[in-house]
Amino acid sequence: MRTKKILAAGIVFCMGIQLFCACGRSRPYETDKVYVGVAYYNQSDTFLNQLIACLKERLQEYGEECLETSILIREAAGSQRTQDDQVKELIDAGCNVLCVNLVDRADPSEIIDLARENDVPIIFFNREPVAEDMMQWERLYYVGAFADQSGIMQGELAVELIQSDPFVDRNRDGKIQYVILEGEAGHQDAIIRSENVVETLKNNDIEIEKLSNGIANWNRAQAQNQMLQMISQHRSKIELVLANNDDMALGAIDAYEKLNYTESALPVFLGIDGTDVGLEAVRDSRLAGTVYNDKEGQAEAMAELAVALVSGKGLEDIDFQDERYIYLPYAKVTKSTVDDFIKR
Ligand code: BGC
Ligand code: CA
Repeated sequence: MRTKKILAAGIVFCMGIQLFCACGRSRPYETDKVYVGVAYYNQSDTFLNQLIACLKERLQEYGEECLETSILIREAAGSQRTQDDQVKELIDAGCNVLCVNLVDRADPSEIIDLARENDVPIIFFNREPVAEDMMQWERLYYVGAFADQSGIMQGELAVELIQSDPFVDRNRDGKIQYVILEGEAGHQDAIIRSENVVETLKNNDIEIEKLSNGIANWNRAQAQNQMLQMISQHRSKIELVLANNDDMALGAIDAYEKLNYTESALPVFLGIDGTDVGLEAVRDSRLAGTVYNDKEGQAEAMAELAVALVSGKGLEDIDFQDERYIYLPYAKVTKSTVDDFIKR
């Protein structure tokens, strides 16, 4: 008799847990289904492909833990007009929250109008709209990272290397001759990273001399071409290559490989992102270091926010900056710490 009672109590307790797990509701409502529409600027972007893969995973986990989730993804091949059409298509398909990585971060009005007419909230990510546009409607959010921090950290990595290894200054003139490979013009991360990395070197009393800079639009092949031109112009004078992201740092390395430079004649290369290929290159000492752009953290923040916006629960637990922004911190990666990042 007594065991039966304990058993019965146990069953009731378990049911209680199950009900509780359904996000505090006793049965799922239509709005308990989270249909996430993702629109991103270009499928050739290494970092974004990895970030979106993380987002898929996280949403799937939410689906298993709590609410039903599904995700529909569109890439715009670099055209804002295409993306505007895709957002309409995603809304027509029934998405009840959007994650938008704008093609042109200064041109979100059409997308905002569409979302507002249909009352579908938007989480912008990675390509930050300007502040005035974020004020167009109260259901607009942004998830990204502190661009200035990534530039400062890349600068600190460079300072540490230069101070610990006299061979970085290959011609021993007391100055570091450097080139910069930049992301898209107008992208917050390109402008701010380039400014901050140089500032950090100067603030640490490193004498530097800029030989050249080139825009390679985050792209490995374009960076290789830019680097080939820079090498033909400056030959072995280049001592440090600062790239706004890992793909461009790898493109620069490709250029030197193509020209059959020996290892001892290579400059120092630094990237940003910690993509899979970037981390491998740090592990193999081809890249001297990178700065980790926390895609897992950003994906988690986006998934949590998407679920909260649709279910109407949990928004108060989210730690916003300026009410609607979430910024994840960067982290420095060197050969001695790279294994911790590869495991993530
Ligand atoms: C990343 C780049 C990426 C770009 C796309 C940046 O934050 O560092 O790798 O290409 O975002 O918008
Ligand atoms: Ca020098």
